[in-house]
Amino acid sequence: MSSLKPVTSRRSGPLTGAIRAPGDKSISHRAIMLGGMADGVTTVSGLLEGADIMSTVEAVRKLGSKAARTGEGQWEVEGAVWEGSASVDCGNAGTGVRLLMGAVAGYDMEVSFTGDESLRSRPMRRITDPLQMMGVDVVDENDGRLPMTIKANPDINGITYETPKASAQIKSAVLLAGLRARGRTCVIEKPSRDHTERMLTAMGRTVTTEELPDGRRKVWLDGSKDRLTATHIDVPGDPSSAAFAVVAALITPGSDVVVEGVMLNPRRDAVYDALRAMGGDVAFENARNVGGGERVADIRARHSRLTGITVDPSRAADMIDEYPILAVAAACASGTTHMNGIGELRVKESDRIAATAALLSGNGVRVEEREDGLSVTGGAVEGGASVTTHHDHRIAMSALVLGLVSERGVSIDDASMIATSYPDFFDHMSALGAGMEQ
Ligand code: S3P
Repeated sequence: MSSLKPVTSRRSGPLTGAIRAPGDKSISHRAIMLGGMADGVTTVSGLLEGADIMSTVEAVRKLGSKAARTGEGQWEVEGAVWEGSASVDCGNAGTGVRLLMGAVAGYDMEVSFTGDESLRSRPMRRITDPLQMMGVDVVDENDGRLPMTIKANPDINGITYETPKASAQIKSAVLLAGLRARGRTCVIEKPSRDHTERMLTAMGRTVTTEELPDGRRKVWLDGSKDRLTATHIDVPGDPSSAAFAVVAALITPGSDVVVEGVMLNPRRDAVYDALRAMGGDVAFENARNVGGGERVADIRARHSRLTGITVDPSRAADMIDEYPILAVAAACASGTTHMNGIGELRVKESDRIAATAALLSGNGVRVEEREDGLSVTGGAVEGGASVTTHHDHRIAMSALVLGLVSERGVSIDDASMIATSYPDFFDHMSALGAGMEQ
């Protein structure tokens, strides 16, 4: 275990300047994994070199692929046909372990998976249930938690699977297992982020999508022992990470901040729609395409008078990681912001409904916690509390952003895990003028 790194953030003057968003975490995981399966060498630029992705790099190496860093954010991944046995530690990364469980399913191999304390507490049967339906054996001795072993095999069968919740992790695990399965694998889902589908297409596989009349989406591919084709992947900036600087600018008087190169994807941008609906001055400038099938823009955010709203629950999956920082914006808005239909937050890196409610109420913000929702009433932020982060990077960063508008500062018990998704967070915040003492 790394030693704890407490940090305090304090009321700050206007935040100004431009920063470049770190590489998107979802796409970075997929670039390494799919590159690790592909025929040839996949080159990646703009990779997020955070701890979560480094766990995935180590994992694909253990599975038999080669991955080499050739420069800052520049990687080459040489794919392999995985076989034998391996033992993989995915650290803090839920996306890493869940997608890898699916990815290994159709190979002739046995893989044991584990992770850090937070990851070992998170539910995995949402992944292993459909994999078992496909014919994978699973050693599950901890009530659906890690450590677990996937006894994969090349004879698995394609299935049609209706995901029980909107989850790109579940959809992606099933589709990745389906790559090498016999027959067709089809997922019917409430729409979730589509990076796996886009990247598989960029690597030569046919992935078909159909919008169903009831609003769900059907996604399918045909299994084949043909390998993916190596390609070049430009990782766009992470809209989830960019949201911290954007909200910091919106709530700190006089601020005018640009976050460059942020991915524009309708399945990821709902937080920006919500912030605009609250009256936030958030503009997307210089929209452009990047390699790998995604678009990016520079986001300019200026200090704004925010007003509470009822957040559209039908967009919850499109902003699932952004609720803690949205709740910080809500703490600075006039009136109450209601967030509903977000029960999934209870099984993220921490119970994010409870952790967000505690971080706000401890610092003098009025908040009501429900089983699957939160309501936050804005007002002066007193601060003065030390927030327990529960090893959750997004809780840590949200608390530090709240401190920027507090009377007495906001402290966190530990900042070390911020490096899982945003290694440059402190450099970026201090470049913009934020007061954070490590
Ligand atoms: C992710 C999907 C989301 C999200 C996670 C990344 C992905 O999880 O919370 O941070 O890359 O597929 P769910 O789809 O399980 O909600």
